[in-house]
Amino acid sequence: MERQERLIYLDNAATVFPKPDVVLRTMMETYQSLGVSPGRGGYDLAVMASEMVTDVREHLCRFFGGDDPERVIFASNASDALNLVIQGMIEPGCHVVSSRLEHNSVLRPLHHLQEQGLLSYDLVGSDGEGRIDPEDIARAIQPSTRMVIVNHASNVIGSIQDVEAIGRVCRNRNVTLVLDVAQSAGLVPIRMRDWGVSVLAFTGHKSLMGPTGIGGLVLAGDVDIRTTRFGGTGVDSESLVHTQSYPYRLETGTLNCMGIIGLGAGLEFVEQEGSDATRTREVALAKRLALGLAEIPAVRIHGPSGWDNRLAVLTINVRDMVPEDVGAILDGDYGIAVRTGLHCAPLVHQELNTFPQGGVRFSIGPFTTGDDIDSAIAAMTEIGGVR
Ligand SMILES: Cc1ncc(COP(=O)(O)O)c(C=O)c1O
Repeated sequence: MERQERLIYLDNAATVFPKPDVVLRTMMETYQSLGVSPGRGGYDLAVMASEMVTDVREHLCRFFGGDDPERVIFASNASDALNLVIQGMIEPGCHVVSSRLEHNSVLRPLHHLQEQGLLSYDLVGSDGEGRIDPEDIARAIQPSTRMVIVNHASNVIGSIQDVEAIGRVCRNRNVTLVLDVAQSAGLVPIRMRDWGVSVLAFTGHKSLMGPTGIGGLVLAGDVDIRTTRFGGTGVDSESLVHTQSYPYRLETGTLNCMGIIGLGAGLEFVEQEGSDATRTREVALAKRLALGLAEIPAVRIHGPSGWDNRLAVLTINVRDMVPEDVGAILDGDYGIAVRTGLHCAPLVHQELNTFPQGGVRFSIGPFTTGDDIDSAIAAMTEIGGVR
C-alpha cells in the first residue's frame, strides 16, 4: 500500500488535531487586539480583557451546568486542575476512593500523597465493559472518605460512566464527587448540578477544541478547596494572604489569555456542531474501524462490546507484535498516527491483561473521514495479515 501524502491523524484522545480554523483565527485576532493582562489594569483595554475572561467563565459554567461563573477556575490542563483539587481538599488521615480506570493525573497525585502519609486510598475496578458499579463505590466509602474521583470516560477503551448513579451514592454518603471530564467534555453533554458532581476537572485541548495549556475546574456552590499555590491575583495586593474569594483563591499569576480566548472559541464551535452530533459521527467511524479490524484474525480488540455510552476510542493488540512496532509501522509505512503503550492509564491495561506493553490506540476526532478509517483498516490488514 502507498504511503499517504497527508498524515492520517488517529490520536485525537491525546489532543484533537487539527484545531478548527475559526479557533486559530479567533485566537490570533483577539489576542492581537486584546492581549493585555486581564484583571490587572484600570485602562479600557485591560477592562475589556477582563470581560473576555469573564465571558468564557460564564460560558463554561453554562456549558457544564455549574452554579456560579466565579467558581470556574482556570488552570493549565486537567492534570494541573486535578492536582489543585486533590491537594487542596485532603485533610490529615483522610481517605479517597477512585478507580482503576483513572489516568495518571489522578493515580500519581494519590500515590505521592499516600507516600507522604497525607492520605490513604482505595481503587474500585470495573466490569468487562469498562463500567464502574456505583455499589462498589458505596462499599469503598469509609467514614474518613473525603472524596470520590472518577473519570467520565476512559481514554483507553472509551467507556462512559453512569455519573448520575455515582453522584447519588456520593450525595447519600455526603462525599465530594470529583469528575474528570478530560475525554468526554465536548462529546457528552454534562449536567454537573443535576448529577451531583461537586468538582469537575476539564482540559481545553481535546474535544473542547481549544489549544493546549488551558483547562480548569468548575466547583459547585457548596464546595471549598484550600489554596495550595500562592501569588499575585491582581486584587488585595496589600495583604500577604492569598485572596480567598473565587476564582482568585485557586489562580495565581497572569492568566493564559491566549488559551482562554481559544477555549471560548472552541466552546462556540462545539455548541454549533452539537456534542451529541459530533459523538454520533465519531462513533459511526469507530464502529466502521472495529468491523474492519475484526476481520483480521491476529487483531484482538479491547473495550466494551457495544457502542452505546462509549467514545470513539479503540485499543487493540496484534498477535506476536509489540504495540510500539505496530505504531512505528503505521507511522513510517502508512503515515498513520496512533498512540501505543499504556496511555498514561497503566491499571486499565492491567485489567485488559495488556500490561506492561500496552496496546495500539486509534482515536477518532472531528476531522476524521471515512477514507482515513478505510486506510487504517487496509494498513492493519497488511500488518496483521502476515501474522
Ligand atoms: C481521562 C484523562 N484524564 C486526564 C487527562 C490529562 O489531561 P491533560 O494532559 O490535558 O492534563 C487525560 C489526558 O489524556 C485523560 O485522558
